Amino acid sequence: MPKNSIEIVIKKNEISAENVSSLFIPFINQFFGVNFIGDYENKYLKLSEIHGEVALHAEAILFTCRDNQFPINEDNTTFFSYKLNLPDPELEMIENGSDEETAAANHWILPSREFHDSWNNLYFESGLKENLLQFVETSILFSKCGINPNVISCNRLILLHGPPGTGKTSLCKAIAQQISIRMKDTFKYTHLIEINSHSLFSKWFSESGKLVMKLFDKIRDVVENKSHLVCVLIDEVESIAFARGTASNEPTDSIRVVNALLTQLDQIRKYPNVLVLTTSNLSSSIDSAFLDRADIKQFVGFPDVSGLKQIYLLILRELIEVGLVTENNNELCLITRSMESDLCQEFQRLLEASKGLSGRILRKIPFLAYASLVHLSEKPDLLECVRAMQKAVEKHLIDTKGVQ
Ligand SMILES: Nc1ncnc2c1ncn2[C@@H]1O[C@H](COP(=O)(O)OP(=O)(O)OP(=O)(O)O)[C@@H](O)[C@H]1O
Ligand SMILES: [Mg+2]
Repeated sequence: MPKNSIEIVIKKNEISAENVSSLFIPFINQFFGVNFIGDYENKYLKLSEIHGEVALHAEAILFTCRDNQFPINEDNTTFFSYKLNLPDPELEMIENGSDEETAAANHWILPSREFHDSWNNLYFESGLKENLLQFVETSILFSKCGINPNVISCNRLILLHGPPGTGKTSLCKAIAQQISIRMKDTFKYTHLIEINSHSLFSKWFSESGKLVMKLFDKIRDVVENKSHLVCVLIDEVESIAFARGTASNEPTDSIRVVNALLTQLDQIRKYPNVLVLTTSNLSSSIDSAFLDRADIKQFVGFPDVSGLKQIYLLILRELIEVGLVTENNNELCLITRSMESDLCQEFQRLLEASKGLSGRILRKIPFLAYASLVHLSEKPDLLECVRAMQKAVEKHLIDTKGVQ
């Protein structure tokens, strides 16, 4: 049976595993003895909800209850405690053929404050996130155990592809963050190195392939240390792994870049502590030799109705919590339940109108909607806000007709 899990974001110093369980088990049992667990699904307890000695150590707690296993104990619950590192990445600079330097990559130490909670705020078709995470965990386990790659092939290379704005880049970063939390006892540090693909094209003829090599040399320096896990993110990978042979007049320098990338990927995957995450919204333009190397080619599409609902609920909860929208009698909890209410019906209409919109557009809708409400003398209530969001969706669809 899958276990419950508790993620604890530690404030300052580490606490021992024993202290974690002796401190947090009674706290969680007490807290959810009086609060409804369902209200806290995928949601961190707020600072104001954490009291006593627990508050000295934890700045946020996320409890995930599986199969009604409550109250919790040491046997039915796994604990993940970690500190958040600084949000800002360091720039990896490489010389670009002249005497200039170019910022070739962003480098974070994970878990980073920048990606805190991003995992829980991404919604995809059922099982997509969890399956990807399990795949990544398994592939790292295989390489850690020294599986013979000539017997079982596993390149630790993932490609997420799909339309723009569907959360591919965010998901790659969130996976890296989750892995750093789950593998904390296996790896001392987890790095996320995001390659800036465009910087690898030099204006100097024949330099681009060398830039790829220089960057991978830097990555190799980190990877050499087996106690560090390195997640390499190549966003919009088609820009450096475009299909050779598709254009009749390909500049040879571009071909060199693809060749260099493939060679470097082949070399770096010999290390057991590397994971390569890539994204593309033009998978048909990617070189077939690159595609062959990917263990998983996952399509990421527009959110389904359940995803739409979750994203909108998150947005509405945020508007209520910051005080921009008023809520009467906990009506947000009932928005999808009491079918006969006006609010519920308007929300269904909003979901219907939003089918086929990307997560990126959905997240802009509240802003567009609120702009039409700011002139009101009183703060809008939930019903007014949902109606304004419907109008914003309609306007978006009209404005983008023929543009997309
Ligand atoms: N399924 C989703 N659930 C929640 N938020 C989403 C989802 N899809 C996209 N978003 C939000 O939309 C924004 C854009 O996402 P992101 O940049 O990851 O998309 P992308 O697929 O990489 O786009 P592109 O192909 O243009 O690079 C982010 O703020 C992200 O959180
Ligand atoms: Mg992207």
